[in-house]
Amino acid sequence: MYRIGTGFDIHKLKRGKKLIIGGVEIPSDVGFDAHSDGDIFFHALTDALLGAVGHGDIGQLFPDTDSRWKNADSSVFLKEASRIIKEKGYSIVNIDGFIILQKPKILPYREKIIQNTAGILNINKDRIFIKGKTYEKLGELGEGKAGIAQVVVLLKKEENR
Ligand code: CDP
Ligand code: ZN
Repeated sequence: MYRIGTGFDIHKLKRGKKLIIGGVEIPSDVGFDAHSDGDIFFHALTDALLGAVGHGDIGQLFPDTDSRWKNADSSVFLKEASRIIKEKGYSIVNIDGFIILQKPKILPYREKIIQNTAGILNINKDRIFIKGKTYEKLGELGEGKAGIAQVVVLLKKEENR
């Protein structure tokens, strides 16, 4: 049995903040301004995993009003979502996503992001892919005021479960 999940996230970009995507710090004069580390890819992926098994959403499980998650490393959210899907008997078939960011280019960091994510999820890196996209300089996204991540994930129920 297969289940599909979709995730989306957006965070504002601010000067002097670290730009962390998929747990990888990318050199940039702006970074995500959020309660946690603002990792849009890990947030969208966490929601996609939770959504696929119908187990709430990231804001429900890790409310930004809870001081435990202030400046949190978002791999914590991802690991918990991974634990939940496994507990329900599912494994990840593949993950595909978009990082929509006017700048910087994420292509030079793609391999590192994929490897890091694969390590956290304990899956083969061939099961993960991401692409970068600009916003064609349109509106506030095009001015580099925010970044978006969009993710889909396919899960498969283990045979004997
Ligand atoms: O050519 P098209 O309009 O489809 O895409 P684009 O937004 O102009 O971006 C061109 C290419 O740059 C993408 O296909 C990605 O390979 C790369 N890119 C990236 O690595 N990181 C970004 N933040 C934006 C684009
Ligand atoms: Zn987020």
